[in-house]
Amino acid sequence: MSSAARAVDETLLTARPEWQALQRHLQQIEIRHLRELFAADPQRGQRFSVEGAGFYFDYSKNRITDETLRLLLALAQACGLSERINAMFRGEPINTTERRAALHVALRAPRTERILVNAIDVVPGVHTVLDRMASVANRVRNGEWIGQSGKRIRNVVNIGIGGSDLGPVMVYEALRHYSDRAIAMRFVSNIDGTDFVEAVRDLSADETLFIVCSKTFTTQETLTNARAARAWCIDALGDQGAIAKHFVAVSTNAEEVARFGIDTDNMFGFWDWVGGRYSIGSAVGLSTMLAIGEENFRALLAGFRAMDEHFLHAPPARNLPWLHGLIAVWNNNFLGASTVAVLPYEQYLKRFPAYLQQLAMESNGKRVTVDGVAVAYETAPIVWGEPGTNGQHSFYQLLHQGTRLVACDFIGFCRALNPLGDQHDLLIANFFAQSEALAFGSAADEPHRNFDGNRPSNTILGESLTPHSLGALVALYEHSVFVQGAIWNIEPFDQWGVELGKALAQRVAAEIAGGSELAHDSSTDALIRRYRALRQKS
Ligand code: F6P
Repeated sequence: MSSAARAVDETLLTARPEWQALQRHLQQIEIRHLRELFAADPQRGQRFSVEGAGFYFDYSKNRITDETLRLLLALAQACGLSERINAMFRGEPINTTERRAALHVALRAPRTERILVNAIDVVPGVHTVLDRMASVANRVRNGEWIGQSGKRIRNVVNIGIGGSDLGPVMVYEALRHYSDRAIAMRFVSNIDGTDFVEAVRDLSADETLFIVCSKTFTTQETLTNARAARAWCIDALGDQGAIAKHFVAVSTNAEEVARFGIDTDNMFGFWDWVGGRYSIGSAVGLSTMLAIGEENFRALLAGFRAMDEHFLHAPPARNLPWLHGLIAVWNNNFLGASTVAVLPYEQYLKRFPAYLQQLAMESNGKRVTVDGVAVAYETAPIVWGEPGTNGQHSFYQLLHQGTRLVACDFIGFCRALNPLGDQHDLLIANFFAQSEALAFGSAADEPHRNFDGNRPSNTILGESLTPHSLGALVALYEHSVFVQGAIWNIEPFDQWGVELGKALAQRVAAEIAGGSELAHDSSTDALIRRYRALRQKS
């Protein structure tokens, strides 16, 4: 543990009677198999499932009993979860290290709602930006937005990284079925020049609109790629004036947007109370709205809202984010499952695991409590995954027979967006078969062929993948991450852990460029020298 952490938290969470009761209860659970739990209760599948915001959430294939749930709910109460949820929805400054609200829920509030931040109602501002986004999206989509040489926009390139990229990419891929195929969408995030070069290789500048998407508008990768885009555009169109017609910005930082050369009339703002990884519903969703249109974007927001309402009002024992988050704590902290595999049986959700990695790990990958005390328990599990059925022919071997316990989230939909023969039935047959195999296993005399089973999973089943259901699904995970952070008493809305690497990269970049004396460790110095000697000078 870091010496900067004030002390080890042995007195707070782990000393709570509710935590210790779970610890004792674990001894009863460890010796039971899911086979036995299901045999003892023929209604288990129905009893341990719940519906909300259009989703059926079956958590029966977790290693839990009624008593586990009772104890987890008691822990949540002791940790003040309800109060924390209310504080978030009220716009209180719950992001304590940055002293601000974390109010992504306001992004999906209807016009009639009032949410105060520092005594100012933020909802009208949210809708003003949404209406401006809609006006631009409509003009681009219907060909009214004309580029420098009089042509309509046929390509949109979103330049951003982290929350300004992963959310937009995930939603674009997820809702591709609903997108306007006349507009090519590209996403550039990596500072590796290949990302930009390959993204624009086949595009004409006079038909391309760049969205420079950065909350801070100071992020090295995004600003560097945006400068490359500006040079590419001016080079192709021969005129600095082209920027006004080919660049828009999404940011909270009007000053830096203007300094970059984008007219703030072409800027879509948001607010410091929207975290990057929680920003899909803000102006960061401009690329999404351009792709799927205003109506679909508003349906996406309505889906978020449906889950927000469910989270706020459904009783804890019937509440999807509560249950999902508390079971995640149980699997992680008590059963020792240090990773979560997210397995969408829906090809359009192929970027969903990548998006969730930032949401969960940047939020809860913390080692001190909100009070700066080192935790004495695990926090965020490692999140990873691939769509089924591809994963089945890759890493599922480890899920079924490996030595590690991996908690799995299976996600799927009853209706195919692209029906093709009986392929959707086959897809869903695999989906259901995998969680069954993980839970129940199958005995064989030959050890290599034996499946122990007893491996926990959740099943999240929707009717079909629509903008509305996607919004609800994302909000489910946002709130589950919040529930977990609240139990661990950590701050889910900051990300100080990314700063050191950024600062060191700036120093190394200056050393590479300037050829100055090096004073790192022997490994880093040798790497920089080798690179300087072998690199191609541009
Ligand atoms: O470096 C991490 C981070 O701050 C993320 O939290 C954020 O989503 C990303 O960088 C991009 O930040 P910005 O939108 O300000 O460019």
